[in-house]
Amino acid sequence: RDLSILSGPKTKVWVYEGKLLKGNKEALQTLEGSYLGPVIKVRKGQKVRIRFQNDLPEESIVHWHGMHVPERYDVHPQDVINSGETYIYEYEVMNRAGTYWFHPHGRTGPQVYNGLAGLLLVTDEEEQQLNLPQWEFDLPVVIQDRTFDENNQLVYLNNGQMDRMTGFLGNRILINGSPEQRLNLKTGCKYRLRLLNGSNSRIYKLAWEDGSPVTVFGIDGSLLSTPKELPYLMLGPAKRVDVWLDLTDKPEGTELTMKNASFPLEIMSGGMMGDGGMMQGAESDLPQGSEYPVFTALANGSGSNDHTLPGQLAQPDYIDPSTAGNLNAPRQFTFAMGHMEWTINGRTWETTEVADEETVKLGSTEVWELINGGGMMDNNDDGGGMMDGHGMMGDGGMMGGEDGMMNNQGMMGNMMQMPHPIHIHQVQFNIIERDVANVDPQLWDAIKDGFVDEGWHDTVLLMPGMSAKVIMQFKDFKGLFVYHCHNLEHEDMGMMRNFKIV
Ligand code: C2O
Ligand code: CU
Ligand code: CU
Repeated sequence: RDLSILSGPKTKVWVYEGKLLKGNKEALQTLEGSYLGPVIKVRKGQKVRIRFQNDLPEESIVHWHGMHVPERYDVHPQDVINSGETYIYEYEVMNRAGTYWFHPHGRTGPQVYNGLAGLLLVTDEEEQQLNLPQWEFDLPVVIQDRTFDENNQLVYLNNGQMDRMTGFLGNRILINGSPEQRLNLKTGCKYRLRLLNGSNSRIYKLAWEDGSPVTVFGIDGSLLSTPKELPYLMLGPAKRVDVWLDLTDKPEGTELTMKNASFPLEIMSGGMMGDGGMMQGAESDLPQGSEYPVFTALANGSGSNDHTLPGQLAQPDYIDPSTAGNLNAPRQFTFAMGHMEWTINGRTWETTEVADEETVKLGSTEVWELINGGGMMDNNDDGGGMMDGHGMMGDGGMMGGEDGMMNNQGMMGNMMQMPHPIHIHQVQFNIIERDVANVDPQLWDAIKDGFVDEGWHDTVLLMPGMSAKVIMQFKDFKGLFVYHCHNLEHEDMGMMRNFKIV
């Protein structure tokens, strides 16, 4: 499609164009003028049938992020269908009320970047009792960053290999596909803002500019048990969060801006990259962790609605850690750089391979320890994703001498530390513990109050040096699923593996 996104020439985008064939017409809401797919609304227990027709010029497949569905409908990268082919999904919605989404798998980074993504909202009986805002008061806020060229066309990976290594960062923020970054709301009303970080790799530290707290009441796959007020909120790629916005006492014309607050993220340290400026500067005109506006809520007309934010939301139904067979010896997965690639436990993506530690039993409850192992680029190859000078500087040529950025000596002994938002398909998990002992204290100090670890999650943001223990149950479906970094360039570069439920 050619869409008017900026003034001037139209932008070529890829879209999920939704059409309702049967059922309640409220089940499909189109975001007018946006490249984003329709908002699909379903309820727990409902059976849905979705027909995906691939009219793209290349292979693709749709993945339902966060949904607990059989192997065939969760999809695996090898399930991609050719241009012109059709894939039918038919499943019963088993998830709790929450904000889920859908996007391609395969060449994920470029396809999502071109526009392919949409929201899938699940409601359930418990949520229906709560009188939360609905329809025009229940608003999607999809946050993405993009770069346009002088002809208004999308630019992906403008720094080539360097972007592929670090992840793509655009130089402007779009909200629901619009560069206006504006929500037109009514004074006197209360809103449920459903935030999705749909960016390829950008992390947000969201704060209201006027200093008021951010009221959060839902995360990924569930409502929280009680609302939480945070000074700011860390939102990694693929994460969703429900934010309450009350405009009851705001005069008409009020503008409330949600900004990105700053945090110090240096992805290279030591030696040659010591000043930190080079790597960051190469990334984007809108550096990760800098301060910039994300969206502005405008109280325009006036209205009223009688929704309230209940003090009690979902009944906590979390997994009791003592029921995990491996609580004291969790499976460990280290996400790190190894030999020019992003790896998990030292391995990169293999289409059908499954390691022993990636095989789990149907019916089991398990703790997984997900470790951001950084990636020391030094000479001792002592495993765990450590990178020796050889691999990094060798034939890869990526950081070769031509562009004068780095040379063989320069990288030795340096750390390339990057955040990894880790996503596990097919399950929702609870986060039982975060270990931050190895996180740079300055960084930790700037972000520590922004994590919501209660509730049911499918993605956990691991900042450099951080690890998290998550607990989950493998139930209902056997099969081959994937887990991966949701920095889409890391995913496409191999930071993805299979796990098998047997
Ligand atoms: Cu949203 Cu496999 O991911
Ligand atoms: Cu997923
Ligand atoms: Cu990553």
